[in-house]
Amino acid sequence: PEADAASAVPDAGSPDHVLLRRIGRVDPLSLDDYRAEGGYAALREALRLGPAGVLREVNDSGLVGRGGAAFPTGRKWSATAQQPDAPHYLVCNADESEPGTFKDRVLMEGDPFSLVEAMTIAGYAIGAQTGYLYIRGEYPRALRHLENALALARERDLLGTDIMGSGFSFDIEIRRGAGAYICGEETAIFGSIEGQRGEPRSKPPFPVEKGLFGKPTAVNNVETLVNVLPVLLMGGPAYAAVGTEKSTGPKLFCLSGGVRRPGLYEMPFGATLRDLVEAAGGMPEGRSIRAILLGGAAGTFVRGDELDIPLTFEGAREAGTSLGSGVVLVLDDTADLASTLVRVAAFFRDESCGQCVPCRVGTVRQEESLLRLRAGASPAQELPLLREVGQAMRDASICGLGQTAWNAVESAIDRLGLFSEDTHQTAAPGDRPATEEAR
Ligand code: NAI
Ligand code: SF4
Repeated sequence: PEADAASAVPDAGSPDHVLLRRIGRVDPLSLDDYRAEGGYAALREALRLGPAGVLREVNDSGLVGRGGAAFPTGRKWSATAQQPDAPHYLVCNADESEPGTFKDRVLMEGDPFSLVEAMTIAGYAIGAQTGYLYIRGEYPRALRHLENALALARERDLLGTDIMGSGFSFDIEIRRGAGAYICGEETAIFGSIEGQRGEPRSKPPFPVEKGLFGKPTAVNNVETLVNVLPVLLMGGPAYAAVGTEKSTGPKLFCLSGGVRRPGLYEMPFGATLRDLVEAAGGMPEGRSIRAILLGGAAGTFVRGDELDIPLTFEGAREAGTSLGSGVVLVLDDTADLASTLVRVAAFFRDESCGQCVPCRVGTVRQEESLLRLRAGASPAQELPLLREVGQAMRDASICGLGQTAWNAVESAIDRLGLFSEDTHQTAAPGDRPATEEAR
């Protein structure tokens, strides 16, 4: 049986929630429930402001993308809106696949109309009449809830032609992914929707200029879009006053691993890692934190004694890490870190689309090296090779998958001291252990 969305939110119903406030309180299949809880007030406000007014509020809000890269949403929307080429498209990236990330799933399952409303506002602001919702194939319940939401919205003139009597026309088509992590990369989504292989394209040109079907396209993550509702309801400047100066608004954090109450937590930016772990009930009696993986498989490890790191984009950056998509995976003192790294490396090797050599070969070599290290190979011999492979992936891969495939491994070595020995010794070519042929 599928778990209810609210069961993933330990403090569901909290009066402090903004993004999660309807989770567990409304029937996700009922448009009447949604409207009774404030639904469609933001779209009404958007239609009153006009597209330029919406762009102004979103720019003023300081909202940045919640998919992981934190690009300013207002800048992305304004750049799309001003392109002379037509038509313009909106793509909602709901292919949430970063290991440890489940925030978009909860939003789509528990409050699907909020995403439909937010996409309609986004389409209005960027001058699009069609939005594509590209949803992860492994989210059947979210898909059902969204299909229902689209049908009801169409019945009530909240989608289709002349929305709310405004003259604005917009509709949303759903496309399902088929299990490939890489299809969450924004340009790979385009290929997937267009009926081609889901392979990343080189950027620039950025999608705002040349995106889906070669047309100007804004691609936004689910959580990013849902944030546009409070931006319009509060007004951009009031939204910008929540959180910190550089990380504005509320944020969802996906907490998993050894804490007492794992789940989805909402906090304004500015809380520390310690605040989040404490909100989740801390560690069970007798257990301590060995490491925390921030940002998922593409992210970095920090140590258990670094809980003062602020959960803001700038705070994480200063601490040499990143928030990514909001994954906080807590490993306790019983965790087998070497095996966790092998698992991460196997994931990237498996999910590499194989288009470019640094990633296709590098992810294979990285996993092999970690397997040898786990089996007791000499770090002095192995680590220089591993570092070279990691750096090549980071510098020369086409897309974020290859560029980040070495992050977690590097941080485990440098920050957690895993496989510690003399890591500065350079192995002579002849010293390199034999490896299998790359795929
Ligand atoms: P990116 O930094 O290349 O781009 C971020 C966004 O800004 C994109 O939409 C891009 O088109 C836009 N952009 C960047 N420069 C621009 C410019 N000059 N003009 C107009 N638009 C511009 O990052 P990318 O590769 O899109 O995302 C990487 C992140 O994705 C990683 O941080 C990772 O954490 C996250 N990620 C999240 C997953 C999830 O399931 N939520 C899965 C895998 C990765
Ligand atoms: Fe494909 Fe990896 Fe190259 Fe990205 S970096 S295009 S996933 S081979």
